[in-house]
Amino acid sequence: MCGIFAYLNYLTPKSRLEVLDLLVTGLKRLEYRGYDSTGVAIDSPDSKNIVMVKRMGKVKVLEDAIQEHFTGGEYSEPVATHIGIAHTRWATHGEPCERNSHPQRSDEGNGFVVVHNGIITNYNDVKTFLRKRGYEFESETDTEVFAKLVHHLWKTHPTYSFRELVEQAILQLEGAFAVAVKSKHFPGECVAARRSSPLLVGIKTKTRLATDHIPILYGKDDKKQTSDQETRPHGQTRELPVLPRSDSTSEFMPLEEKEVEYFFASDASAVIEHTNRVIYLEDDDVAAVRDGTLSIHRLKKSLDDPHAREITTLKMEIQQIMKGNYDYFMQKEIFEQPDSVVNTMRGRVRFDGNAIVLGGIKDYIPEIKRCRRLMLIGCGTSYHSAVATRQLLEELTELPVMVELASDFLDRNTPIFRDDVCFFISQSGETADTLMALRYCKQRGALIMGITNTVGSSICRESHCGVHINAGPEIGVASTKAYTSQFISLVMFALVMSEDRLSLQQRRLEILQALSNLADQIRKVLKLDSKVQELAKDLYQHKSLLIMGRGYNFATCLEGALKVKELTYMHSEGIMAGELKHGPLALVDDSMPVLMIVLRDPVYVKCMNALQQVTSRKGCPIIICEEGDEETKAFSSRSLEIPRTVDCLQGILTVIPMQLLSYHIAVLRGCDVDCPRNLAKSVTVE
Ligand code: AGP
Repeated sequence: MCGIFAYLNYLTPKSRLEVLDLLVTGLKRLEYRGYDSTGVAIDSPDSKNIVMVKRMGKVKVLEDAIQEHFTGGEYSEPVATHIGIAHTRWATHGEPCERNSHPQRSDEGNGFVVVHNGIITNYNDVKTFLRKRGYEFESETDTEVFAKLVHHLWKTHPTYSFRELVEQAILQLEGAFAVAVKSKHFPGECVAARRSSPLLVGIKTKTRLATDHIPILYGKDDKKQTSDQETRPHGQTRELPVLPRSDSTSEFMPLEEKEVEYFFASDASAVIEHTNRVIYLEDDDVAAVRDGTLSIHRLKKSLDDPHAREITTLKMEIQQIMKGNYDYFMQKEIFEQPDSVVNTMRGRVRFDGNAIVLGGIKDYIPEIKRCRRLMLIGCGTSYHSAVATRQLLEELTELPVMVELASDFLDRNTPIFRDDVCFFISQSGETADTLMALRYCKQRGALIMGITNTVGSSICRESHCGVHINAGPEIGVASTKAYTSQFISLVMFALVMSEDRLSLQQRRLEILQALSNLADQIRKVLKLDSKVQELAKDLYQHKSLLIMGRGYNFATCLEGALKVKELTYMHSEGIMAGELKHGPLALVDDSMPVLMIVLRDPVYVKCMNALQQVTSRKGCPIIICEEGDEETKAFSSRSLEIPRTVDCLQGILTVIPMQLLSYHIAVLRGCDVDCPRNLAKSVTVE
């Protein structure tokens, strides 16, 4: 969801065309997050102005426009120091169009230009305030108020530094956002800040950095800042409260390098090809680069603040985010699952000793064992991984397990107790609904466990403990390998919790045995690809697809239907087979496409019953069944056979044909597989 990419070269000469190329590549790396329009801003050839190009649609359209626009030879001349900012926008305020794309500007002279992720919730109040001071607005965005507010502060406080202006503006704003700001009044400088929306700074130097920490600087009078912040404008015409200027002199020195390049990005995939040294900004951090020096400032001081931000070395490789021989990232990610599930278990499961150690939670296990209940909270696919493992968690922990959609959980003001253990499951670790639910539970004293795929994400940082699923970067908007890795992480947790239960040892051994065979079995399921593609040819012109199952496979029905919806724009519904006769059976006739999961597990007889209910209404279901199950296969001319595994892991093998099916239908329907319409990879707004 929205992507920020900014690039600052200090004493490292680059032509504007090279800078533009870098900005466009950065945006391409962020495409997977989902967006509907794009834009860039760089300096004009005489460096006195800022030039912007914005386009509706894909980054490719922007790239073509840039080639048309920047034709003069002056754009090929190297500039020693320069700052360019770029953005992919996912519309929230105002329709997707060039006018509403970012960068948004402060005035016709492009004095300050801003790229922004997230939502400024009090933008209407600030807009009223600024209108009364003569500002006219050209877009419907909340972002434009930010640019104009900085401009207003610049006019009224001409001695303020660029960073101070941005800080003062942020203190007037409410909501969740990340911003990067460029100004023609402060050439060669960049200021970026975050509040509940991810942002990192990448650092590239010729020689090894002399430090692995950047100190945090504070204003002189933090108490005053906090109380002033409470008096934000609410549409009134009075002047904005102006806070005491912060004092950037400090016993710590900021990062000073002679020749240095800085990258500001929404996530690491956009910077990894340039540098593996990054700083993850925290909420209310303001990062400023001036004369090549990076400093990090805090808007508010709290007791538990560290003195410095650590420079992290990314482990990610560029190859991990490239498509390789695949046509789409989603396809690559589906086929990576034999490896990604092994990576989730690597160093944690010892098949020879039947032991499991989850380093990120091991110190909390005694506390977890004393808890009142487990609450599993997430959105979309991450929520489905909770549905998929709930039954096993109930069985192996013998605790009540509640499974919650984060948005609904918050709507209900669900009661939470100090002795609850709350799991927050999120591939990105940045989903706003999940993060809000986490904060809600944390405030009420529950133990917070994060299950995420993104190191350094907000959910990671705000959890007490957690499991990193190690699935590797997931670029396709539709989640695939993260689902199977979340699933396995939760299974591993259930196994850890039952380690000392004698009565459960046989069951644990059976599951561990099945986990050791899983990668090979996934490879086998992936060989069904061409058969699934044929089935997709039968289905892709239909309007709807019903997916039915129960027990351990109900989650596959929900997840399969979500994949079909988001990728193919067809209607699809995951139906609990036990509910058929309570309504959905009315949909079944000889023309309604149906897919049924019927495996040899404790609910087999009930599933067969459902299958008969469907076939006796002239339904012709596609059946997913176990290898060699002739009796079940006999009910249909179309079936997919998957290898036999323990009941609680079947969901991993049954979901893969659904991932493949939705992928092939999407290709046949000409849909954008990696970036489905209206969707974003990381949903950072509530
Ligand atoms: C999955 O295919 C979807 N794109 C979506 O449901 C996703 O799982 C959901 O938005 C939650 O994201 P998260 O795992 O990053 O929190």
